Amino acid sequence: MPDPLKLGFGPFAAPGRGVLVVFCDDGLKFGQATSRALGSVSDLVARAAKAERFTGKSGSALELAVPEGLKVARLVVIGTGKPAELKANDFVKLGGAAMGKLPASATEATIFAELPGGAMRPDRAADLAQGVALRAYAFDRYKTKRKDDDKPPASRKVTVAVADAAAARSAYARRGAVADGVLMARDLVNEPANVLYPEEFAWRASALRKVGCQVEILDVPKMRKLGMNALLGVGQGSAHDSRVVVMRWNGGRKGDAPVCFIGKGVCFDTGGISIKPAANMEDMKGDMAGAACVTGLMHALAARKARVNAVGVIGLVENMPDGKAQRPGDIVKSMSGQTIEIINTDAEGRLVLADAIWYCQDRFKPKFMVDLATLTGAIIIALGNDYAGCYANNDQLAERLTKAGEETGELVWRMPLSKEYDKLIDSKFADMKNTGGRMGGAITAAQFIKRFVDDKTPWAHLDIAGTGFDSRQNEINKSWGSGWGVRLLDQLVADHYEGRGR
Ligand code: BES
Ligand code: MN
Ligand code: ZN
Repeated sequence: MPDPLKLGFGPFAAPGRGVLVVFCDDGLKFGQATSRALGSVSDLVARAAKAERFTGKSGSALELAVPEGLKVARLVVIGTGKPAELKANDFVKLGGAAMGKLPASATEATIFAELPGGAMRPDRAADLAQGVALRAYAFDRYKTKRKDDDKPPASRKVTVAVADAAAARSAYARRGAVADGVLMARDLVNEPANVLYPEEFAWRASALRKVGCQVEILDVPKMRKLGMNALLGVGQGSAHDSRVVVMRWNGGRKGDAPVCFIGKGVCFDTGGISIKPAANMEDMKGDMAGAACVTGLMHALAARKARVNAVGVIGLVENMPDGKAQRPGDIVKSMSGQTIEIINTDAEGRLVLADAIWYCQDRFKPKFMVDLATLTGAIIIALGNDYAGCYANNDQLAERLTKAGEETGELVWRMPLSKEYDKLIDSKFADMKNTGGRMGGAITAAQFIKRFVDDKTPWAHLDIAGTGFDSRQNEINKSWGSGWGVRLLDQLVADHYEGRGR
């Protein structure tokens, strides 16, 4: 176990060792407890700020080694800009920024959760702590040759100093569970496809039993019996058998319709017979980011004992070229009974979702369904890496997702659906074809999925091809897999679908 983080809360008191992290605004002002802890070092900070042209701009940092007058090895001052403008997610980012300023070798740190106007509210301090947990994550289990000075310590202790430690700790119960869900999702996305194939993914999802979920695994004979030929067609060229995993958390009232989440879990997408070019194909180990998010979310909901009935369904396959692989021109009959002409075997995610969504809807009669999928390159062209594409048959659900996105920083942008786009996937030989051409490629993919949703079930589809994994770094993630969507959907559930307050 590399680098387990020991995260705790304590009172405002100048630490005797390690790293001290404090916050100041863009007037270089500190809060009272911070000023008291810094004592005469405040002057040193002022001089250093001038020398370094540090102005307290949001996210910027000033670092002082062995500051005379303090017992710590290092003092880090982080700017917050204008504290009045900070929202929940800004506190998460501040926590990430603080964690990011700890030297690799640091074993102990104290972060003063105080702004010039006073101590951060307990929930804000807990948001900050969540940022610490998210930023502390690294995926380095396959690095065997690291030099001593590059090795993370066996454990790191980070204390968030607050006015009311008990209140912060209780506010962190939910956020810590959610952070664990995000890290679980990141682990799944980062894992290479020779390790994480459908059976192995299903095995890892079954660990959710430990937090109180019911987990069922559908194997190939079971899926065949159910008629999931769209999903099975994608996996038939792989040496690894396909799986569907159903995860259930019953934290709501008995008999209440569940909220349902469905994830695309293509453990590796070569494109199949319509094979992809070699450049960046390695990224396609992350083509199960939707399934990873659903799994991480179910962990989060269960671990924080959300007062909701929730179901997660993930379709796990590997898309490979092979003598047994599906061909362009093949026609498959989906579980819904609708037939699909395969035009391009690389448009496989929608085939997996078609059966997973139908199965979920048919069996669970959901309150709503949200599916997540790294579905199209076209959504990356349209929106880049900062927004996921959101398609919905229900305005209220779309609006709630948009708002939860703004709260968490996991942003979604609503895209259109219409009859005209839908026509583009009519087929000469079957009920529909699996691609609608280059134009509006992310939209026709969504239209395809929509054909497997009953009009009466509120449904949203999130195309996370641009957000599920990302080589760019940010304040709360230095790894490749982002775990995108776990915080978003936890927020959606918390804001609107839990019996009583959180
Ligand atoms: N998994 C890909 C989409 C993707 C591309 C995700 C890049 C993340 C990064 C998907 O299965 C795919 O291949 N889509 C095709 C669809 C096309 C054949 C209609 C695409 O987007 O090119
Ligand atoms: Mn593909
Ligand atoms: Zn794919």
